[in-house]
Amino acid sequence: MIEPDFLHTTRTAYDVWAARYAELFANGLEDFPLDRAMLGAFAAFVRADGGGPVADLGCGPGHVTSLLDSLGLDVSGIDLSPEMISIARTARPDLRFEVGSMTALDIGDGTLSGATARYSIIHTPPEHLPRVCAEFRRVLAPGGHLLVSFQAHDDPSELAESFDHKVALAYRWSPDRVADLLTATGFTEKARLVRAPMEDERQFPHAHLLLTRT
Ligand SMILES: C[S@@+](CC[C@H](N)C(=O)[O-])C[C@H]1O[C@@H](n2cnc3c(N)ncnc32)[C@H](O)[C@@H]1O
Repeated sequence: MIEPDFLHTTRTAYDVWAARYAELFANGLEDFPLDRAMLGAFAAFVRADGGGPVADLGCGPGHVTSLLDSLGLDVSGIDLSPEMISIARTARPDLRFEVGSMTALDIGDGTLSGATARYSIIHTPPEHLPRVCAEFRRVLAPGGHLLVSFQAHDDPSELAESFDHKVALAYRWSPDRVADLLTATGFTEKARLVRAPMEDERQFPHAHLLLTRT
């Protein structure tokens, strides 16, 4: 299958940035209590339903994968960038990390109890987002949990607005429109958190959507 250009561009950009990105998050999510709260809620729902495999999709250097492991989840990480995966494997040789794309996951149908996609849909052009959402649904078991996080904008008439992210062209999304798309794909929204930017972040709100696969 021919790979869309945006995957090649995103992979190449993150391969170059991987070491620096890992340094930026050397403290994990210590400075992001609201993000940790949503990840904690996600983990609690997965555990309450009996645990089971979880994938951190677009895991980058693996700091969130590591946090989810500390919260008692059976988690593995997947990322487009081989450099990111190499850094993640070095940091946590005891966890599973694989190169892969959310547009076509090498994961069986209905095999996951949970999935996170933390700031990893932001480089997906809007016309490709339905395919990614369909992959989220395909790999999750009925009742499985999904946490999607992204830079947001507040104009629901537009699904996405592009912005000049320092690594690669990126899109910030309308939380309402992403929730509508996921609902139409086969998810029920459980909760959402839209927070103000932290110091050092761009002046955009940040959205965290927690959903359950129907
Ligand atoms: C902004 S970083 C986020 C990393 C990490 N999830 C975090 O919260 O810090 C975006 C990551 O998503 C990955 N990514 C982008 N598009 C992807 C795709 N289609 N499939 C898998 N990973 C992807 C990039 O390689 C990069 O590591």
